[in-house]
Amino acid sequence: MGPFTQVLRMVLQYRGRLVTALMFAVLGAILWGANISAVYPLMEVLFHEQNVETWFAARAREANERAQALIESGTGDPAVDAQVAELRWKARFYRQAARFAATHLPEGRFETLVLVVVLSLVGMTLAGICRFLNELLVGNITQRAMYDLRRHFYFRVLRLDLAHFSRDGSAELMARLTNDMEAIANGLKMLLGKAIREPLRIAACIGLACWINWKLTLVTLVMVPGVVALLSAMTGRLRRATRRHQEAVADMYKVLQETFQSIKLIKVLRMEPHERRRFLTAIGRYYRRAMRIVLIEAALRPMLEVAAMAAVAGGLTLGGYLVITGQTTVAGIRLADEPMTTSSLTLVYAALLGIMDPVRKLSKLYGRVQAAQTAAQRVFEFMARRPTIDVPVPGAVALPRHQVSIEFDHVFFEYVPGVPILIDVCLEIPHGEVVAFVGPNGSGKSTLVSLVPRLYDPTAGAVRIDGHDLREVKLRSLRAQIGFVTQEVVLFDDTILENIRYGKPWASEEEVYEAARRAFVDQFVHRLPQGYQTRVGEHGTRLSGGQRQRIALARAILRDPAIVILDEATSAVDPESKRLIQQALAEFCRGRTALIVTHRLETLEWVDRVVVMDHGRIEAEGRPEEVMTRSRVFARLCGPGQLRKSA
Ligand SMILES: Nc1ncnc2c1ncn2[C@@H]1O[C@H](COP(=O)(O)OP(=O)(O)O)[C@@H](O)[C@H]1O
Ligand SMILES: [Mg+2]
Repeated sequence: MGPFTQVLRMVLQYRGRLVTALMFAVLGAILWGANISAVYPLMEVLFHEQNVETWFAARAREANERAQALIESGTGDPAVDAQVAELRWKARFYRQAARFAATHLPEGRFETLVLVVVLSLVGMTLAGICRFLNELLVGNITQRAMYDLRRHFYFRVLRLDLAHFSRDGSAELMARLTNDMEAIANGLKMLLGKAIREPLRIAACIGLACWINWKLTLVTLVMVPGVVALLSAMTGRLRRATRRHQEAVADMYKVLQETFQSIKLIKVLRMEPHERRRFLTAIGRYYRRAMRIVLIEAALRPMLEVAAMAAVAGGLTLGGYLVITGQTTVAGIRLADEPMTTSSLTLVYAALLGIMDPVRKLSKLYGRVQAAQTAAQRVFEFMARRPTIDVPVPGAVALPRHQVSIEFDHVFFEYVPGVPILIDVCLEIPHGEVVAFVGPNGSGKSTLVSLVPRLYDPTAGAVRIDGHDLREVKLRSLRAQIGFVTQEVVLFDDTILENIRYGKPWASEEEVYEAARRAFVDQFVHRLPQGYQTRVGEHGTRLSGGQRQRIALARAILRDPAIVILDEATSAVDPESKRLIQQALAEFCRGRTALIVTHRLETLEWVDRVVVMDHGRIEAEGRPEEVMTRSRVFARLCGPGQLRKSA
């Protein structure tokens, strides 16, 4: 079973509830069998003109007569003696039952009929209540287990390295958290509910039939191995179909997500037909794969039913033969101790028919559990991934605040093995220095600065802060020092105030306003109707790019970090405010260690040092005015339309 057993293990936490649910299932099954057996007294009353008392009296007489006959055939065989003793005991029991019926139960046949009907109605009601309680408990256990699983999954995923996210994409994760979880919940509910309840009902029916005539019942159960073979033949098919279906779901999610994220672009470029085609391809695949499962499941159900019916028919034929001929053997095999009556055959038949309903319900179970298994595999495969960065390191040092120098020591890095992105980068940034990184697109600037908050670890070499290798530093203490603003500003659908406060939730409103003032956020906030309480919309869509960047800047300022990392953080700021922003940046960076990836020449006017990156290497570095004259890459960058001197 693999990953699904892990789900089941989570269920074991709720074993008290599980046992209670099981009890109700057992009780329900017993009542189900009892209800079916009501057919027997009904037959006796309707066709043999008896009431309960006369029926018991007749049974007592019968038992006595057979005992007498055995004694008269008279052997001293101990086996016969035992049989006689048993018959005598039965006769006594029936006599007492007859006496009880005579005093307590109605005499008339109609009243007896009513009594039986009322009793079976009560039985049905009780069975219904058992079923209700069972389903309630099973549903509760399932949802609890799913709550646990979702929590585990989310917590786990949140700690994974960034690399996992860029590799699989968020649509894949969404699919696992929604669709696959749903499949697991369905399977779990089935497994704890139907998979226990229905076989118990089947067992009650078989038990009932066995009680009347176990040999006959066993003969009818020869079909069981056939059914098992049928199911196992279907296993592989169904599993493959389910896995492919779940992949199709994830694909569809991906198309949906990409569509909605880039809806502006799609509309402007008139890419709707293309997107429609893409979506149609995805749902077409979804449709075909879903149909394959439908086909297998649809075939499974009648096959199971026919198998069960064949068993019942076989039993009926054999039993009918016994009743009609009045014999106790079929083809020399002894099937009954005494000639069968119509009523008892009817009861066997009713009991076997009582199997049909559970079988029908079970036919769906198989597919669901298969789906849950493959879904669990997809979920646990993700959960088995371990972060390499966000893990506690024994003996890790907590970085003290302030006084941070950063050192890149022969750093190599590759996202994909064999494709070097950073090659032998050596750089020392003393405390309080402001360094600008320039270079063509894809030269590795963003990658280099993202090594400092340890979004990635270098493939070779080391990044050190105050002489400590980052891998030996407490991650929290490292990240607490860092203010990080990127080109793609991340805003949440909340107020401007809360968006600035994100990252330092305990900051007072005054602190937030101060940070906002320093990032020139207040300039545009005052023009908004609700000021700082204005909601920014999903991903901040109600703000301009420059406004979003200023909010991000305010967020960084509020955290008062020792290390500032700005990755093209001012690229969207309008020319009108650019001077102000430069001034704000310069002020913000003073006294901190700052790494600034920029395309703006005006930034270079106030930084301490410029590092020119090219193809993953440092091409030149030094004071701004030196680099500007010396670096060939820099000269190329300053060519037409490359570095924006002024907008
Ligand atoms: N998550 C990633 N997986 C694989 N390759 C990446 C990833 N991110 C960036 N790259 C590659 O790394 C190179 C450097 O990217 P980047 O550091 O963003 O450059 P820059 O910021 O200088 O424009 C690029 O060639 C880019 O294609
Ligand atoms: Mg970049």
